[in-house]
Amino acid sequence: MVQAMAAINQQNQLGMENTSDQNLQVDNISEEKPDIEHEKSKDEAADPTDEVADLVANVSIADQTPIAYIQYSDETQMPLIMRLIQKDLSEPYSIYTYRYFIHNWPNLCFLAMAGEDNCVGAIVCKLDLHKKVARRGYIAMLAVDSNYRKRSIGSTLVKKAIEAMVEDDADEVVLETEITNKPALKLYENLGFVRDKRLFRYYLNGVDASRLKLWLR
Ligand SMILES: CC(C)(COP(=O)(O)OP(=O)(O)OC[C@H]1O[C@@H](n2cnc3c(N)ncnc32)[C@H](O)[C@@H]1OP(=O)(O)O)[C@@H](O)C(=O)NCCC(=O)NCCS
Repeated sequence: MVQAMAAINQQNQLGMENTSDQNLQVDNISEEKPDIEHEKSKDEAADPTDEVADLVANVSIADQTPIAYIQYSDETQMPLIMRLIQKDLSEPYSIYTYRYFIHNWPNLCFLAMAGEDNCVGAIVCKLDLHKKVARRGYIAMLAVDSNYRKRSIGSTLVKKAIEAMVEDDADEVVLETEITNKPALKLYENLGFVRDKRLFRYYLNGVDASRLKLWLR
């Protein structure tokens, strides 16, 4: 068990160290894009198939789903938020944890809606005094439905929460995420957060956390 965990950790560390290589690969792919498009249009002109047409149609429908960002307004939204967050986060939270954050700081909770009852993203935060000096915002939960990821929904939710914290005179924003959670680390670092501390075996599953921090002043 211990060896298996160590191996997983090692793989994860290697994965993180390779980030810059992956960026290079992404850059190369985008440079080659015109050729790929060219090849595709040649193929389509020569022999278009129904299968390809269906795939393309599905992609464009999914991409055009309009997303509305709304602030938490009432308890009927609680099950939507809980269902979404429970699917993804490793820590099990009780209804009281959700209520603690959302009832005390409803203005720091935002939902991303794809249609009236389809909550595809949510962020839950708080803001209080830290060590009697700094007004510290804290991002407690963030999740985006797996079918809607990589469409900037997560980043938009974080930006909305930070804007609301700024309105409430926050000095800084912090959060923890698993040290292995590359999408989250990338998202927050893109927005200017820096890795402040490593918290050893912070989560129930034994994984370390990275504490990320954004200074607002
Ligand atoms: C982390 C999470 C919220 C990101 O949501 P998202 O809507 O896909 O994020 P965005 O589209 O705004 O992506 C923002 C940046 O994050 C990075 N990113 C997102 N998904 C990524 C992935 N799978 N791999 C690597 N980087 C990724 C990208 O750099 C992206 O920037 P880019 O569009 O310029 O490339 C989502 O993956 C999720 O819900 N994960 C499960 C729950 C979780 O881990 N929550 C965070 C706990 S603090």
